[in-house]
Amino acid sequence: MTELKNDLLLKALRKEKVSRPPVWMMRQAGRYLPDYIKLREKYDFFTRVQTPELATEITLQPVHQIGVDGAIIFSDILVIPQAMGVEVLMEEGKGPSLPKTILTQKDIDTLNTANAEHHLKYVCDALSLTKKELNGSVPLIGFAGAPWTIFCYMIEGKGSKTWDKAKQFAYTQTELTHQLLQKITIITIDYLKAQIKAGADCVQVFDSWAGALSPEDFKIFAQPYLLQIADAFKDDAPVILFPKGCWYALKDLSNSAASGIGIDWTISPQFARELTNNNITLQGNFDPAKLLAPIPQIKKWVKEMIDAFGAQNYIANLGHGITPNVPVDHAKAFVDTVKEYRIP
Ligand code: CP3
Repeated sequence: MTELKNDLLLKALRKEKVSRPPVWMMRQAGRYLPDYIKLREKYDFFTRVQTPELATEITLQPVHQIGVDGAIIFSDILVIPQAMGVEVLMEEGKGPSLPKTILTQKDIDTLNTANAEHHLKYVCDALSLTKKELNGSVPLIGFAGAPWTIFCYMIEGKGSKTWDKAKQFAYTQTELTHQLLQKITIITIDYLKAQIKAGADCVQVFDSWAGALSPEDFKIFAQPYLLQIADAFKDDAPVILFPKGCWYALKDLSNSAASGIGIDWTISPQFARELTNNNITLQGNFDPAKLLAPIPQIKKWVKEMIDAFGAQNYIANLGHGITPNVPVDHAKAFVDTVKEYRIP
């Protein structure tokens, strides 16, 4: 196995001392990068995801062009419903759609939870190829969607601002909801294990829509499944949980088997440290919209953010995915500022 030349990200996740914090950006592969947009004109979304050479090329773009300290594999969270036997379409510019939503016990019974490694072999192949191409330069990050977020798409069939159908299902068919969440959890653990076997050095679980739930409901429908996933990897590889919008869960999650927690910009670094008793690595929390401000302003804010979190037990990142309208030199200014940071 090639030794990593830059293992800042893994050091931060292991709470080891670093010379500066590592930095990467959620959704760094794709969207705003001109070379990605060129590939998008030639190949449709799932061709890009399912062709290891293309997925590798897209994964490496931000490493080479922006200089991030970690490569996140180019894929999507909705490959899990596909592996479970559910059709997922991606309409350019419109987002995902799942024509057949889950409605009944029978729908749940027919869902596959086995052999993630086989059904998602193309992701594993992309990871192995990317690992090889990285040649030890930076760690490789695998990922999956969290059970609640995947459940949302499987019930609604598309994105939603309120997720009211998913919540209606959860509140009226609670037993079926837990069955489905559990099935998603089982295949997700299997899938993330396969990703690690294929070369991922750590994994992130995106609970993008957990913030649609109240704190009480988060504890019922999201947290137990996030904890199951974190537990399954405690002797395996570091797990970063990203329950967007759920600052109230920080205390509980900081006592879990996870190595890191991603946070968004709705909580201050100081308060996040207080809630987690400084005992877990925090990741975040720059508002991606701030990347639209002038570069000198971005640099000032990034430095203030690191000062507020402290340089140890910290991974500089955005508080959610980078948006397609961010100029590349602004994204680079974000990353450069972290790399120039000197510990006071
Ligand atoms: O971080 C990375 O750069 C790796 C690639 C990645 C993609 N999707 C590629 C993608 C990752 C980590 C994801 C995760 C994902 N996918 C999430 C969780 C993260 C988040 O932002 O909250 C969610 C909710 C999805 C579902 C999804 N996929 C949506 C809602 C959309 C459409 C809108 C959009 O642009 O995000 C996608 C499509 C998608 N997945 C694109 C990319 C680069 C854009 C489509 C395109 O470029 O053609």
